[in-house]
Amino acid sequence: MDFENNSWIWEGVYHYPHLFGGIMLTAAVLGLSTSFFGGIGVPSSLAYFWPDLGIFHKRKHGKKRIRVYMDGCFDLMHYGHANALRQAKALGDELVVGVVSDEEIIANKGPPVLSMDERLVLVSGLKWVDEVIANAPYAITEQFMNTLFNEHKIDYIIHGDDPCLLPDGTDAYALAKKAGRYKQIKRTEGVSSTDIVGRILSYVKDTKTHDDHNGSTSLHGERDNTNEAEGEKCQSKGLHLSHFLPTSRRIVQFSNDKGPGPNARVVYIDGAFDLFHAGHVEILKNARQLGDFLLVGIHTDQTVSEHRGAHYPIMHLHERSLSVLACRYVDEVIIGAPWDVTKDMITTFNISLVVRGTVAESNSLLNGAHDPYEVPKSMGIFHMLESPKDITTTSVAQRIIANHEAYMKRNVKKAESEKKYYAEKKYVSGE
Ligand SMILES: *[C@@H]1O[C@H](CO)[C@@H](O)[C@H](O)[C@H]1NC(C)=O
Ligand SMILES: *[C@@H]1O[C@H](CO)[C@@H](O)[C@H](O)[C@H]1NC(C)=O
Repeated sequence: MDFENNSWIWEGVYHYPHLFGGIMLTAAVLGLSTSFFGGIGVPSSLAYFWPDLGIFHKRKHGKKRIRVYMDGCFDLMHYGHANALRQAKALGDELVVGVVSDEEIIANKGPPVLSMDERLVLVSGLKWVDEVIANAPYAITEQFMNTLFNEHKIDYIIHGDDPCLLPDGTDAYALAKKAGRYKQIKRTEGVSSTDIVGRILSYVKDTKTHDDHNGSTSLHGERDNTNEAEGEKCQSKGLHLSHFLPTSRRIVQFSNDKGPGPNARVVYIDGAFDLFHAGHVEILKNARQLGDFLLVGIHTDQTVSEHRGAHYPIMHLHERSLSVLACRYVDEVIIGAPWDVTKDMITTFNISLVVRGTVAESNSLLNGAHDPYEVPKSMGIFHMLESPKDITTTSVAQRIIANHEAYMKRNVKKAESEKKYYAEKKYVSGE
């Protein structure tokens, strides 16, 4: 199949009419959500439909489509954010997501780890998101709410079940509630940005303590309070910080539940996909454009730590799998893919092309280790893909480490309120 055939894949076209100091960014419009890759004929020019969007939807379904809005900072976006947006989308037909501006995050929580652009790429890359509003305010003001209702035609504002208080102690969503246009979703357990920053900072702390005691800066010289055996160090560290309980149901909720169609060209890409970031979204998008079905192999925690050092991965295999599954360009994942791309895998999944980005974390190839892509290379189906961004998991972690004092302070405060939340939490039914 010609690569050009896939040019209809969402190109991330941004639309910038100014309104109330915010910028609206029309991202993935029209059905580019879960059902997108199901084979609906999508015209090559999405821009064509923008002006008539409302009419188009009315005609298509004969009744008004419910538009829901949810906002957030989405700094260090994780599967908890993805799950919240999945639930929000289920409360309507179209999901519009507001991404809080850098300035507002700085004013309310301190500097974000990821820039506005990086956060936009991440949010727009989620398969449940239909539109994105850049530079949303931190708290929903009356003026912004009116903009949402009148200009963005939002029917309901969605928020999690954790209370969101303004600095003056009032409920940030009081206005929307009063107007009867507020809906609530259940908080996703097990992860928060605070928790992820904590995981990264705990490595800094450990390396530092070790440094003081010994002079060695070895990455493998970390010590855990719990004194586990060498091999379990990395594992145990993550576990005492993570509340994540992976269930089969969650994986099903994130899955497209669809195999490749007849004669589909299957593209395979593998990696750790740790601390899922904008660079991952872009490489997955480019990989998907080379075929009809994108299969992503996610390496096990053990494989990742063997190749990157004992303090990696930061996110566990199941957490990393959910982040990748939530990406609109991904059709299927292998949860725990082998390091080597084998002939058997290529046959089993009818893989036509194996790709790898030029920006990668691991330098094992340089260390004289054997080449995991030897088989696809010998078959002539290996392709290096120019990585569109040079952001890596390590560089994201480095940003946090570089500012670790600021983040540590902020984290201590947030960690306290989260600890309180976990101590006092009660069963809530729902998704
Ligand atoms: C640090 O520890 C390593 C092994 O644990 C040891 O070989 C080395 O001599 C120590 N360095 C110092 C400065 O004590
Ligand atoms: C396997 O992939 C090729 C494309 O590379 C495709 O033409 C072929 O139909 C696929 N086989 C099956 C059984 O789907």
